[in-house]
Amino acid sequence: AIERTLSIIKPDAVAKNIIGEIYTRFEKAGLRIVAARMFHLSKEQAQGFYAVHKERPFYNDLVGFMTSGPVMVQVLEGENAIAKNREIMGATNPKEADPGTIRADFAENIDANAVHGSDGSGTAEQEINFFFKPEEICPRIIG
Ligand code: CMP
Repeated sequence: AIERTLSIIKPDAVAKNIIGEIYTRFEKAGLRIVAARMFHLSKEQAQGFYAVHKERPFYNDLVGFMTSGPVMVQVLEGENAIAKNREIMGATNPKEADPGTIRADFAENIDANAVHGSDGSGTAEQEINFFFKPEEICPRIIG
């Protein structure tokens, strides 16, 4: 099925000036960018976005990292988009990421891991709504 997922290019990857390289990987995988915006997240925005992790030991470091510089946020659309994006990102910990994945190629460590992607259909919908209004999404005509 055609799905949408939320993707974030994190501060480490924006600082490395590889937004375009990562966009190329999305496009080569058949994912279309249907909404995009750059943000420098406030502490409150980062805390809200990652609220599901608030009891985890890494939460404060995660919020600190995600507010350390601008991020590029996009909605990706395509066949099986949620799983496809997770596949091309690779494992959360770049040490465990398969060769050729975004995290294997560009991530420094588990905190500065280049990209975020929604992990399921419920979180995808929630995360897209966190950043974008419905009218800000521009679905593409296929074919
Ligand atoms: P992300 O997919 O953005 O979701 C939460 C982030 O927390 C994750 O990527 C990692 O960058 C970060 N993180 C740091 N430590 C851990 C951990 N032990 N398990 C999962 N995520 C972690």
